[in-house]
Amino acid sequence: MPPIFSSDRLPTKEHYFKIKRLLNPDKNSRGIIYHRGADIELRDDTDVELDFRNESNFVYLTGVEEAGFHVVIDLFTDLVYLIPPTVPDNEVLWSGAPDNAAALLQKYDADAIVSEADLPGLLMQIDPNVIHILDTTDTTALCEAGVDFDRLEFTALKIAMHEARLTKFPWEIELVRYACHISSHAHIALMQHVKPRQMERELEARFRWECARNGMHRQCYLPIVASGPRAATLHYTKNNQIIPSGPHSLVLVDAGGERRCYGSDVTRTFPSSGTFSPEAKTIYEIVLKAQEAVLEKLKPGVLWTDMHQLVVRILSHELVRIGILVNADPEELVEMGVIRAFYFHGTGHSVGLDVHDVGGRGAGILSCNSSAKNGKSSTSSSVSKQQLLTKPLEEHMVITVEPGLYFNETSLAMWTKVPYLRKYFNMDRIEQYRPVGGVRIEDTVLITSDGIENLTIAPKTVKDIEAVMALDRQH
Ligand code: GLY
Ligand code: MN
Ligand code: MN
Repeated sequence: MPPIFSSDRLPTKEHYFKIKRLLNPDKNSRGIIYHRGADIELRDDTDVELDFRNESNFVYLTGVEEAGFHVVIDLFTDLVYLIPPTVPDNEVLWSGAPDNAAALLQKYDADAIVSEADLPGLLMQIDPNVIHILDTTDTTALCEAGVDFDRLEFTALKIAMHEARLTKFPWEIELVRYACHISSHAHIALMQHVKPRQMERELEARFRWECARNGMHRQCYLPIVASGPRAATLHYTKNNQIIPSGPHSLVLVDAGGERRCYGSDVTRTFPSSGTFSPEAKTIYEIVLKAQEAVLEKLKPGVLWTDMHQLVVRILSHELVRIGILVNADPEELVEMGVIRAFYFHGTGHSVGLDVHDVGGRGAGILSCNSSAKNGKSSTSSSVSKQQLLTKPLEEHMVITVEPGLYFNETSLAMWTKVPYLRKYFNMDRIEQYRPVGGVRIEDTVLITSDGIENLTIAPKTVKDIEAVMALDRQH
């Protein structure tokens, strides 16, 4: 597939036809889809614009990354009407002239451009008996056009949208692949430039810069640059501490850029000194073993709950092997869910226009209270609550695989204070490993017809990371 440039028109009408198949409208009915993109917002009490990123469902339907557009799609004629925002003359002085209709039709996969002033006329002309919107759609324009709200349908479009977004077209995969490859290179750059006593923010800035100079000026989510004990905080985004220089000191970087709004989600964990300490290496290789076991098994038909359970089993057995978990058979510990003291998130999720993409969203972080009541837990029900993917894997899905192990103070305190659980934790051994902080290894992968394509190409074995870090270190 040729590269997709910033100026290329994305064939988003393919998305409309996919959604139409899923909506399966009555052939005689006259329905439309209406949706409105996000608008620019200002800082309170100022005229300073907040950073803008369009709403993902609108991007899915139209490819429009600019603010203030609406779309009407006629389910009978399949015509896509794009409605740009009205720009008053005095605003043109400040912001420049907007694109004319011809330019918009070049940029976007639409059939006609309609002004906001003509939207009521368009709606009157189509006279739809059903208007499919999302529960989040801003309906102000419909209200102003005097639309009968009894005709609004809030549910079917959302269901169809989530289903459609779960599997990707080749051009969407190309965008995600690009985002993953550039993000992988940005991770390598951080491995090569990290040094103890540096600010975490400096690595964040370099990551953003590496992405931006390769056409990805926006991040898919706030980068996490978590050094030392902060690596045990899953969504640490303050990035405002100094990277420690201790022998165990790891830096966990969870960051991914986005290309034309298509994202990537990548985590690498590496030693600030360039060399893993024995304890850091042990924990790191356990997490890698769990990740590689899942990557080997992935293919269409696989259940995500089984993959999570595989990670739980490997991590539990390995923590018994190194003496952190004690006084029980590993399988008993698996059944009790004790590993959640060290591993308290799901094993992955769908990625696309959002980092936690639609199509099986709804994870929760579990505590010991909800997972191992009275020393027993229903492994299957607690695991299913953690899942971000709820249906068997299909070809063309893009998902993450992201096991981790964390020495998180709050989690450990919660678990080890429960009297009937305390005996399973070897506190001396935990103290030995606590300075490691946390390890997560996260790849974004594509499900193919018989396995995966790993879209993430940053090194991840201890040997490869140490080799990359030894190369060109700018100390
Ligand atoms: N970056 C967020 C996550 O890994 O899910
Ligand atoms: Mn993730
Ligand atoms: Mn991540």
